[in-house]
Amino acid sequence: MIGIIGALDEEIALIYEHIKKYEITEKAQFRFYTGKINEKKITAVKCGVGKVNVALCAQILVDIFNCEKIIFGGVAGSLLPGLKQGDVVVSSHAVQFDVDLTAFGRRRGEIADRDRLIEADPAMVSAVLEVFDDMFEGKPEIPNLMVGTIVSGDKFVSDPKTIKWLQREFSAACTEMEGGALAYTCQANKIPYVIVRVISDSGGNEAVNEFELFLSKSSELLSRLITLSVKQF
Ligand code: ADE
Repeated sequence: MIGIIGALDEEIALIYEHIKKYEITEKAQFRFYTGKINEKKITAVKCGVGKVNVALCAQILVDIFNCEKIIFGGVAGSLLPGLKQGDVVVSSHAVQFDVDLTAFGRRRGEIADRDRLIEADPAMVSAVLEVFDDMFEGKPEIPNLMVGTIVSGDKFVSDPKTIKWLQREFSAACTEMEGGALAYTCQANKIPYVIVRVISDSGGNEAVNEFELFLSKSSELLSRLITLSVKQF
């Protein structure tokens, strides 16, 4: 079974439309949709915003639905000048930027006995990249795609100072609110994961407006990337 998670209605709605004959299971106030996409057994869920929500959903996907791998799709704020609205970031690693044990001499994002940056599954990353390349082959306009570190915190980032800090502290490509906790939960359960993010905003002063205007536009690209990638997993 493959787990599919999105945080928001817009990020997951089109994915639900691809599921053949789904069954709905309610648990911990989440609705899990189980069925098939491209002949693969999947369970998909909208987790809501934030690290606690995604960790809860990921653990339920493992425990109740026996998911052996998880893919997350959503939007993110850019940390790099070359990454604009509509560009894509695929996780090489993910980290929780708001974990702060510096008082104990640790680096930002570091928790004892865990990796600071948690690696995504290379085979799942490759599958997403192949799907992207096939999807845009011969097209006149191709979004930029970067494989890179994704930083996550329970904060919508909308100021240039934080953007600069996140980029320098973690060498990261984009910021969002779930990926680091998904990575943590998957590593704890020894299952592979990958995160696919479409850039919705600059993370700067205009981030909220940019995000709101872009959100629904991201869903088509996200659903195509995710449903086609699932076929390769
Ligand atoms: N998701 C999309 N844009 C974001 C931002 N700027 N900060 C956090 N999460 C986001």
